[in-house]
Amino acid sequence: MSMVHPVPGAAPSTATTTAPSNVPAPTANGAPLVEVTDLRMFFPITQGTVFTHHVGDVRAVDGVTLSVRRGETLGLVGESGCGKSTAGRAILRLYRPTDGRIVFDGTDITHLEGGALRRMRRRMQMIFQDPYASLNPRMTAAGIVGEPLDIHQIGTTSERRTRVRELFEVVGLDPEYGERYPHEFSGGQRQRIGVARALAVNPDLIIADEPISALDVSIQAQIINLLERLQSQFGLTYVFIAHDLSVVRHISDRIAVMYLGRIVELAGSRELNERPMHPYSVALLSAVPIPDPVVESRRRRVILKGDVPNPAAPPPGCHFHTRCWLRERLGNPAECETVAPPLVDALPGHAVACHFADRVAGTPEASASADLASSLRAGGGAVGTARPGQVTS
Ligand SMILES: Nc1ncnc2c1ncn2[C@@H]1O[C@H](COP(=O)(O)OP(=O)(O)OP(=O)(O)O)[C@@H](O)[C@H]1O
Ligand code: SF4
Ligand SMILES: [Mg+2]
Repeated sequence: MSMVHPVPGAAPSTATTTAPSNVPAPTANGAPLVEVTDLRMFFPITQGTVFTHHVGDVRAVDGVTLSVRRGETLGLVGESGCGKSTAGRAILRLYRPTDGRIVFDGTDITHLEGGALRRMRRRMQMIFQDPYASLNPRMTAAGIVGEPLDIHQIGTTSERRTRVRELFEVVGLDPEYGERYPHEFSGGQRQRIGVARALAVNPDLIIADEPISALDVSIQAQIINLLERLQSQFGLTYVFIAHDLSVVRHISDRIAVMYLGRIVELAGSRELNERPMHPYSVALLSAVPIPDPVVESRRRRVILKGDVPNPAAPPPGCHFHTRCWLRERLGNPAECETVAPPLVDALPGHAVACHFADRVAGTPEASASADLASSLRAGGGAVGTARPGQVTS
């Protein structure tokens, strides 16, 4: 049984302030904490009741390669159903991947099982979208936050109790609320409980799966501030999953844009906002609202045709070709339908999976991103208002 690690420096109870950092955050340029290579996660489709047979697969994650640097926030963004949550869960080894390799802090965890996997899981935690659904309604808040300590048999009963009180303070909750049940808290407070629970075992990596989508706009900024403060306080590494580029662009060091199971673009947050090189990223950026009504009214939005195709039968070649505005502009080159574009560095630190990435800059569609980028430089932009999947004119 291991000892409880003290919570380094309990923070002030207001989550909107930045606590002094007594654990220096490693730089976002550090060595990779997570390295994912050609990850595939397929869910089998079966037919029949007594004698079931395998008739196909939902290709939820279809060849994802990325790394997460120690101390950074990597935003993972894309439309509903593109495989963001599945990728996050597979990285945490909540699933057994169909193929590929996951290395966590130098250890290949792809096929880890049993006690070795449990020990590794202690270092990787998840925060969920819906704080109400993800908290056990029959457990008290203190029970929920302390449960990971029980599971991993960390500390004595009294040490765990102390640790839970510290965790409540760290996330800006009154420790006296520990005996209350989830329904007695507001949405924002429930998400704080979820964050405290994730922090309980001193993880290195937190995968936050749409942690603010279910919250009121007024509360979203508080949770974002809390996550940012905790990152600098405890040197955490985040993968932040969102539909919404308007959220991830503010908090991410780098952003990976996902479409139908694949990463289509991966770049520094500012670089991606100012110079998107994939037609899909351009469409997502064009859906992010600009708070300046004059700029907003003259902006050109990219209308994506149709819905995301069925991941059980993805289009051949480039998965995006059925909806790509650039392909149409270029006269429907055959390559788009036949050859899957690899994710390659088009510029240093800026990877893109498009045969014609060099043709995006200078299009009127891409100039919409320039408007957004200048608004970003001016400090504009609201948290959580647009759904990139809802690209409208
Ligand atoms: N356990 C499962 N069994 C079968 N199919 C699944 C399972 N989990 C996810 N899928 C399918 O895999 C695809 C990707 O789902 P996933 O939840 O990862 O997408 P997402 O990008 O997180 O979407 P959202 O933004 O709506 O949360 C979807 O088609 C989904 O229906
Ligand atoms: S490869 Fe073709 S279809 Fe795919 S994003 Fe580029 S231009 Fe569009
Ligand atoms: Mg999801």
